[in-house]
Formats: sequence, C-alpha cells, structure tokens
Amino acid sequence: MTTGDHIAHSPPGHPAQTHPERGGDRREARVALLAELDACLTHGSGELAALHRHAVLPAGKLLRPLLVVDAALATGGPVHPVLPAAVAMELLHVGSLIHDDIIDGDIERRGRDSVHHRFGTHRAILGGDALFFRPFALVTQCRERGVPDERVVRAGRALAEAGEELCRGAMLELDQAGVPELSLEAYLRMAGLKTSPLFSGACRIGAILSGADRGEVAALDRYGHALGIAFQARDDLLPYDTEPPASGKPADSDLGNRRPTLPVILAHQRAAPDDRTLIEKLLADGARGADAQARMAEVVRRTGAPEAAREVLDEHVRRCHRALTVFDPGPGVAEMAAMANRLRRQASRPAGSVLR
Ligand code: IPE
Ligand code: IPE
Ligand code: MG
Repeated sequence: MTTGDHIAHSPPGHPAQTHPERGGDRREARVALLAELDACLTHGSGELAALHRHAVLPAGKLLRPLLVVDAALATGGPVHPVLPAAVAMELLHVGSLIHDDIIDGDIERRGRDSVHHRFGTHRAILGGDALFFRPFALVTQCRERGVPDERVVRAGRALAEAGEELCRGAMLELDQAGVPELSLEAYLRMAGLKTSPLFSGACRIGAILSGADRGEVAALDRYGHALGIAFQARDDLLPYDTEPPASGKPADSDLGNRRPTLPVILAHQRAAPDDRTLIEKLLADGARGADAQARMAEVVRRTGAPEAAREVLDEHVRRCHRALTVFDPGPGVAEMAAMANRLRRQASRPAGSVLR
C-alpha cells in the first residue's frame, strides 16, 4: 500500500470514524458524506440557499465525492478528515451541471427541473458561481480535522486545476459542435478535459490529503482520467441504449446541441455515403424532439457504432484496472474497480432497459 505518513484516525465515537482495514467503511462513509452534504446546505437562508438545496438534494450518484473517500481509503488514510473535500467535489460538480444545463438549454436534471428552468438563468448563473467558491473553504476545513497544512494547500491547488481544466474541455466541446468528421483522438481529448478532471481531481485530492506518495497520486490520476472518458462514453450512449426517462435528463439534448458524441462520430466514420450525408444533415439541423433523435438512432445503430463505442468504453475500463494494480486489494481499491465495471455493465444493456 502506501509509504507516506498518514494522518491519525478521527477520535473514537465520531460518527464518521473509519478504519481502512475493516470492511463496511465505505457504507459508513457514504452515510457520513450525505449527512455532511445535507448539513452544509441547511445553514443558509434566502433564495440562494433554496436554489442550492434544489440543485444538490436529493443527491445524484455521488461518484466524485465517493472517489475522494475511496482514494483516501486506498492510500491508507481515514475518511473523516477528507469528507469536507468530498463535499467540495460534489458542490463543484453540481455547479458545473447548473451551468452546463444553461449552455445546453436543458430543462430537466436528475428527474426534476433544471436550476435555470426553475429559478431563471441569471439566478442559476449566480447559484452555480457560488458553488465554485464554497469548495475552497471546505477544503481548508480538512486542516481542522488534522490534515497538515502542506497537504491542504496541494489539495486546494488540485481543486483549482480540475475546475479550470473542465472549463477548457467545455470550451473545446463548443468548438466541436456540428462537426461529425471529428477524429476519435479529438473526441478523447475533449472528454479527457471536460469530464475527466473532476474524477481525476477527486482521486488526487483524496490521496494527497491522506498523505499518499507521488506514485500513488499519479496512479489515481491515471485511473480518474480513464474513468472520466469511460463515463462520458457511457453518457453519450444513453440516447442509443435506453429509454429517455431512465437518466433523468433529456435524451435529445446532444443532438439538439449538435454534439458529435462518440456514437455519432464512429457512425460517421463507418457509414456508407448516403448514411454519412444523413448524419451530417441531422447534426447540422440540430433538431430536438423524439423524431430527429429516432432518425439519428436508426442510422447510428445501422452502422454498428454503439458496439464500437462500447469497445472504446471497455478499453478505458481496462485502463482503470491497470492503473489500480499499484495498490494492494482492499477498501477503496475494490470500490474504484467496481465503479469502472459498473460503467461497462450499464453500457451493455440493450435498448429499452433501465439504467440504475
Ligand atoms: C453527469 O454526471 C454529467 C456528466 C459528466 C455526463 P453524473 O451522471 O455523475 O451526475 P449525477 O451527479 O449522478 O446527477
Ligand atoms: C456534463 O456534460 C457537464 C460536464 C462534464 C462539464 P454533458 O452535457 O455531456 O452531460 P449531461 O448529459 O448534460 O449530464
Ligand atoms: Mg449537458
């Protein structure tokens, strides 16, 4: 496991106290994480606080904050000191979703109104902005839980880097709109910048705070990078794999925003000339609605692109596993491996199945 010196475990009796060598820590950690997320949103009053509660709770899958926890456990650290940083990653993620829904013009998120649909665009921009500031204060709270200053400073830097990289990726995605002849490399670069940074950032932050050595931080960075790409591939496959209501967000968003998603790019590469022209036209139109989506789904499926997209996803899941080989099996590591495997299982469900 790790050779770094680690912070002491939280005092006996604390609800979030955990022991990495014992099973069941992850379940306790999830409960503690949800409690801290909830507590961090109950203080404020007024419209900003109401907006944040609507955006954050009920929580989504909590993948990023759980990665902070898993990375801490994998590198031999306790959970309690890193929980504020885990909450921070969820707030940063939700802030990015609020802004993403404005950019994408999506009115539904997590099965409820998107924030701008409920509160208006101006308030949603401000609400998202506020969720980018709070995380820095939260990371400093790790110091009050015994994390040495130097690690807190490094974690703060990793948080800032992840947030800025995400913006760079989202900008790149805008540049790629309406371009079906995008190369796979260009797509992977975009997904690696847009989606991976919060996954790799969460992993790095959990590891840094728990005193991991450089090799461990680098391995977790590789894991998070590959996981983010696999995750975006899975997200891109949703409109081609499942019934729209399953994801809690609109199935026609990518097409309506003229996004050359992974299945669309691969379909364009493989299509016969007539189908290639049809893909170009559908993407250029950027029409929303079930009809346009059904036409794109039909041509994409005809080319075998969903299977090819699943191969790309599988390759990145394999990279996740390779990155984890530097760790001994145990708490945190098992959950990170399972998180990657779940993406593969979800993406292999046939059309009409329900994602969980
Ligand atoms: C959605 O992420 C945004 C993408 C990167 C595709 P999640 O699917 O993790 O969102 P929640 O937090 O569970 O709602
Ligand atoms: C999500 O991107 C936001 C970021 C990763 C920054 P998408 O637009 O691909 O995700 P959904 O489908 O809206 O969740
Ligand atoms: Mg979106």
